[in-house]
Amino acid sequence: MSIESTASAAASGSAATDRFRQSGKTSTVHASQERVNLLASKLVNAVNDIVLEERVTYDEYNAFKAWLIKVGEDGEWPLFLDVWVEHSVEDVATSHRHGNKGSIEGPYYIPEAPEQKSPAKISMRPDEKGTPLLFQGQVRSTDGSPLPNAKIELWHADEEGYYSQFAPGIPEWNLRGSFIADAQGNFHIDTMQPAPYQIPTDGACGQLIAAAGWHAWRPAHLHLKVSAPGHELLTAQLYFPGDPHNEDDIATAVKPELMLDIKPAESGTGVQTTYDFVLDPAS
Ligand code: DHB
Ligand code: FE
Repeated sequence: MSIESTASAAASGSAATDRFRQSGKTSTVHASQERVNLLASKLVNAVNDIVLEERVTYDEYNAFKAWLIKVGEDGEWPLFLDVWVEHSVEDVATSHRHGNKGSIEGPYYIPEAPEQKSPAKISMRPDEKGTPLLFQGQVRSTDGSPLPNAKIELWHADEEGYYSQFAPGIPEWNLRGSFIADAQGNFHIDTMQPAPYQIPTDGACGQLIAAAGWHAWRPAHLHLKVSAPGHELLTAQLYFPGDPHNEDDIATAVKPELMLDIKPAESGTGVQTTYDFVLDPAS
């Protein structure tokens, strides 16, 4: 690993922690004493059951304690939780849906990316590396009616697997944008195909992965938030067929419905794909 990519990995973890603190997500938490008692008791009991069943030693207990301290020091709680826990929370949150089921948000979403009307090109460096990707489709309601002026927020990693605002040296809004669909809910976005992404390996999460003999890869993916008035917000990721990590995503966030159909671009340069989103009416 180069010095530059090591620096980027460390920066990503603490940037994700700072972003979460600023996101406002913690200010809306309401949990009753009954609920906290239930969930905290179950968590503590599960940990104690593991200790008793696996006869955990003091050495292992101290290693665990040191590791938990390091997760915080490295700013990696968002990474840890979004990789190993968020997928189950997302399943629970969207299990009632008839439209797209979606996928995890992950740690690298930034709200209020610059808005453009479709058709549009996402902001990218003049010499952005990679395969040009035309991403197009339609946003509809579950009854099949098109959703005019639906908003598609798109963010993804670059050819090296880095996200703007979380790795140094990348322009602020690179490969991030908000796109407004046309009156028929159609959108057309020119971007660049992202690379597979390795979660930062130089912090506490990487230490766990190495110690357990796991790998750190997520398959290449596009992140999306799709919204329209009167409809539930859809948070999704879309994946590329043939990626070796579609089957063993470290974040367990791949679903068969989220696989793109990639074709050579009609323009002759790069590839293109069509994906339609179906949003549930808000209840
Ligand atoms: C993580 C990174 C991602 O890009 C993602 O989509 C999910 C999780 C992470 O590093 O935790
Ligand atoms: Fe991601």
